[in-house]
Amino acid sequence: MVTGASSGIGEATARMLAADGWRCVLVARREDRLRALAAEIDGEVEVCDVADREAVAAVAERVLGRHPAVHLLVNNAGIPARGSFLTLDAERIEHVSLVNYLGGVWCTRAFLPGLEAARAGGDRASVVNVVSVAGTVAFAPAGPYAAAKHAQLAFSRSCGAALRRRGIGCHAIMPGFLETEGFPQHEVLSSRLLRRFLIDTDDVARAILRAVERNRSEVTVPWFPYRLITFAHALSPVLVTRLAGWFTYHRGEERV
Ligand SMILES: NC(=O)c1ccc[n+]([C@@H]2O[C@H](COP(=O)([O-])OP(=O)(O)OC[C@H]3O[C@@H](n4cnc5c(N)ncnc54)[C@H](OP(=O)(O)O)[C@@H]3O)[C@@H](O)[C@H]2O)c1
Repeated sequence: MVTGASSGIGEATARMLAADGWRCVLVARREDRLRALAAEIDGEVEVCDVADREAVAAVAERVLGRHPAVHLLVNNAGIPARGSFLTLDAERIEHVSLVNYLGGVWCTRAFLPGLEAARAGGDRASVVNVVSVAGTVAFAPAGPYAAAKHAQLAFSRSCGAALRRRGIGCHAIMPGFLETEGFPQHEVLSSRLLRRFLIDTDDVARAILRAVERNRSEVTVPWFPYRLITFAHALSPVLVTRLAGWFTYHRGEERV
């Protein structure tokens, strides 16, 4: 199961998994994009808004009817929310939490029987949560996004403990900035320094597959400089958050 498979990291991950012999069920809202990818990689399509708990439950019922055992769930669907808590649309602040954080919660709960069935059959079963470096550092120019990603990381860590007791792996992937449809970076990121560290979707897809294969609980990609920033944040969150607040986006965003 790959959510957010109609573009970006999800699409790259589904392609890489399929090349590795996996049969993928592709989940997102844009059916045409999912169908085109499914035709290329011989996958299956489930159109679903992961923020809608009932829709997720209905998808799980359909998929588990076809495949009682699910070996991998990649909670990747996500949207940006750049701007300040004080000025961004209230609906956006609400929606980013529903999709980026609760979407993964609903999918994990809905597909748990499939993951447990894979374990019962003697196979490995894993959940991957595509979080962000913004889950570890409160990046003020995208405050509501960072808050949702902090919640998603807390979910991944706490639910991970419960999943591991059931023999199911749980992995959090923390990508730095990369250029995708929903997250344009090249033109809008004001910092040339940050632009130098842009990665691509295949880098993240590879990190996802490696985290599962090597059973790594948390992976930051790229390691440098983001892991160092995460360490610094753990030592002095107020200072690092203030420094991060100096970076901003060129268009449409105020310095916060
Ligand atoms: N790009 C970055 O710099 C970056 C850095 C760190 C982490 N991330 C995280 O990586 C993940 C993937 O983002 P991306 O960069 O690959 O962006 P993207 O290309 O815009 O992909 C986002 C995917 O999520 C899907 N999606 C959005 N809302 C959804 C919903 N309500 N229900 C189901 N699917 C939904 C989109 O498909 P539909 O529109 O068809 O539904 C799309 O397939 C996100 O969780 C993001 O927070 C991105």
